Amino acid sequence: MIAGHRGAASLAPENTLSAFKKALQSGAKWIELDTQLSADKIPVIFHDETVDRCTNGEGLVADFTFSQLQALDTGSWFSAVFIGEQIISLEQTLLFFMENDLNMNLEIKVHHSEQAEPLVDAVSKVLAKVNFPNEKLIISSFSELALAHCHRVMPSIRLGYITDKNPLIKLEKLKPLNLYSVHIDHKILEETMAKKVTDSGLKLIIWTLNDVTQADKFRSWGVEMIITDKPDVFVKA
Ligand code: G3P
Ligand code: MG
Repeated sequence: MIAGHRGAASLAPENTLSAFKKALQSGAKWIELDTQLSADKIPVIFHDETVDRCTNGEGLVADFTFSQLQALDTGSWFSAVFIGEQIISLEQTLLFFMENDLNMNLEIKVHHSEQAEPLVDAVSKVLAKVNFPNEKLIISSFSELALAHCHRVMPSIRLGYITDKNPLIKLEKLKPLNLYSVHIDHKILEETMAKKVTDSGLKLIIWTLNDVTQADKFRSWGVEMIITDKPDVFVKA
């Protein structure tokens, strides 16, 4: 399975509606995206802690209300073709996914540990409000606090632990979370590590692989899903 990373980060400004449309057009059935809270506690789709890299503004995402975030341009940093692209809410995004029958890997992006529980609570409310189908969702996070809170408030949703370190030492500790998957940085994955993860009953997902010539090797190691900036290239391969 192929998932577009931040939508399709090589084809459009990351984590925007244009990026999700590009991923959809490329034939990807899954899209990975990042969510965090605005100052007025609305889950929005954005990766970095600040708006500096991907908008024409400056400052912490958490200091902007949703309407202030919407007033920023998150397209022109990528290319003039996308001038006027707006930051969107998780709610708008979920509706787009439902209209287009897309599967979502929703990453709970926690920049500071105290953000974890309020963010998960807000995400849980939005998912319930739009009645997003559980079978089309995997929630993932680097944050163990966020995953633990997801497990408490949304026990039936599949959870993935994201890491750029060997996950094996953590698996015992994470058992109470009843994880569905481990999402590993492809750069650190080795065949024996992959086997131990899949032998433990967890699905193996890798990020962010952009070299399509490596896809078959990872598949032969039991990788179930590849998260890539280039879903167009990987879907065709
Ligand atoms: O979800 C996998 C991957 O997106 C984690 O890293 O920094 O791209 O959110 P990052
Ligand atoms: Mg991510």
